Amino acid sequence: MSTAEQDLSEAPLEEALRQQIAAVAQHAEYKRAAGLDALKVVQKRFGYVSDPHLAEVAALLEMTPAELDGVATFYNLIFRRPVGRHVILLCDSVACWVMGERAARAQIRERLGINPGETTADGRFTLLPIVCLGHCDHAPAMMVDEDQHGDLDAERLDAILDRYR
Ligand code: FES
Repeated sequence: MSTAEQDLSEAPLEEALRQQIAAVAQHAEYKRAAGLDALKVVQKRFGYVSDPHLAEVAALLEMTPAELDGVATFYNLIFRRPVGRHVILLCDSVACWVMGERAARAQIRERLGINPGETTADGRFTLLPIVCLGHCDHAPAMMVDEDQHGDLDAERLDAILDRYR
């Protein structure tokens, strides 16, 4: 993430985003029920939810930052730290673990030089572990951004990584 992008993700939310969050809150039964959707709005714009943005959204939803952070940390698809352009979520639950998650993780480490929780130096990929993606019949499985991928043998994994620039 460049310094300019970093500054933006720490700066007050733009009016358009505040309005989008207000609209999301209006559609919810009560404001705080819109927490997850409001966080998604921010993440879509900045790639993650910074502390200042979390506090701002919490105020809009009449919650404390700690309450909203509880929502953010409960859902493992809300990122509270900067991530790469593409996020690889590699399933480490039992079916995938048995079917080759460790080999896939080793291949990613070898090819991209990152372990779970790390981002490549060029900011292209972040690798994160995730619990069952519900794709067990195609284990080992992972998601890259919004796309689900399964049956990850070495060849297939390489081809998938090639697609994300
Ligand atoms: S255990 Fe990995 S998708 Fe279910």
